[in-house]
Amino acid sequence: MNVELYERIWMWAASALIVLFLGTIIVMSAVQAVSPQSHLETIDPSSIATNPEFGSPGVKPGPDGGVVVSVVAETFDFSPNPIEVPAGKPVTFRLTSADVIHGFEVVGTNANAMAIPGYVSQFTVTFPKAGEYLIACNEYCGLLHHNMTAKLIVRKEAP
Ligand code: CUA
Repeated sequence: MNVELYERIWMWAASALIVLFLGTIIVMSAVQAVSPQSHLETIDPSSIATNPEFGSPGVKPGPDGGVVVSVVAETFDFSPNPIEVPAGKPVTFRLTSADVIHGFEVVGTNANAMAIPGYVSQFTVTFPKAGEYLIACNEYCGLLHHNMTAKLIVRKEAP
């Protein structure tokens, strides 16, 4: 069978791209331990009020001198609000929702996750600079979705 050179180039190029993309996914998931944001950690949304962690959401000391922030999203508020965290230290957010799906986006940063009822979403970020950030719900959750915001205060650490 005679395949034109031009066509052969495209076939090889397309195959190379598929191998490259698949390889990237495999390497990233192995090396960077990429996992679904939910971590497959489940929680009963009806028992959040009595949950040892999310019953009293807030900022607690975490590993590496950082903090762990437990956040409950519920129409149309985040708890706690405001959230105060140190600058230059790892901040681990743990999010869940008491009712419907909400978003949790620290505007102007790459901190962005969904708060899904029944699941705990977790991610860790470091805010290099002190300042105030807007936290916005970016999943439509009801009539007052546009009002669902909170304030993140990043404090400069005392030396
Ligand atoms: Cu919560 Cu939109």
